[in-house]
Amino acid sequence: MRQVIVAGNWKMNGSKETVNTLVMGILAGMSEVNSTVIVCVPSPYLSQVEALTTHSQLNLGAQDLNVNASGAFTGEVSADMIKDFGAQYVIVGHSERRSLYAETDAVVANKVQVALDNGLTPIFCIGETLAERDSGQMESVVMRQIQAVIDLSGIDAFKHIIIAYEPVWAIGTGVTATPQQAQDAHAFIRSILAQNDANIAQSTAILYGGSMNPNNAAELIGCEDIDGGLIGGASLKAEDFLQICKVG
Ligand code: PGA
Repeated sequence: MRQVIVAGNWKMNGSKETVNTLVMGILAGMSEVNSTVIVCVPSPYLSQVEALTTHSQLNLGAQDLNVNASGAFTGEVSADMIKDFGAQYVIVGHSERRSLYAETDAVVANKVQVALDNGLTPIFCIGETLAERDSGQMESVVMRQIQAVIDLSGIDAFKHIIIAYEPVWAIGTGVTATPQQAQDAHAFIRSILAQNDANIAQSTAILYGGSMNPNNAAELIGCEDIDGGLIGGASLKAEDFLQICKVG
């Protein structure tokens, strides 16, 4: 039985004040939550959230990492820096990184490997654009994205990877994939893993992301192959986020 995982992706939102209010609000409701809950926060707030969440059930993650250990990479953040602030998770290959910062499948696979090398759990994001879905390419796109990681790191790497299926057309748009569309994609993703290793396919967590909210979370997470959510907009309100966390 796979445990439900709910991860918040705050993206580039927040201030010291709102971060404090949000984290305190989430912590206040955590006693009623059975899911594994992660908040992936902007790097400047890792320290603040670490201090607020020590000895709590709330887990900390970052939103991206650089593949180098240190050096002349202005503006970038290394795995060691992320770990230094108590984060155990890192989002890798989010569609905004892929589209706005030109991260290729190879770059993303490299980041997944570096996260694993450093003991961080990557939340590895995949998903097709609307044009790709409309032209019948959903399966080939997610296959290509996953294969890049299998080619570089091997199927065993998925013992330590959380997959997030996020159809790009559903991210931040208010248009959610129907439970059937999401379930079909998740089942397909699990079948790709199963072609390589049936046990790993069964144990790998595959989260859905894309306009998940308190109104649609239960139905989505209730699908057989959907093991939780990666939540953007709705993770910025403690009440909404908690409602999703309570689904598991
Ligand atoms: P959304 O974002 O929930 O606001 O659609 C999800 C994501 O980008 O991870």
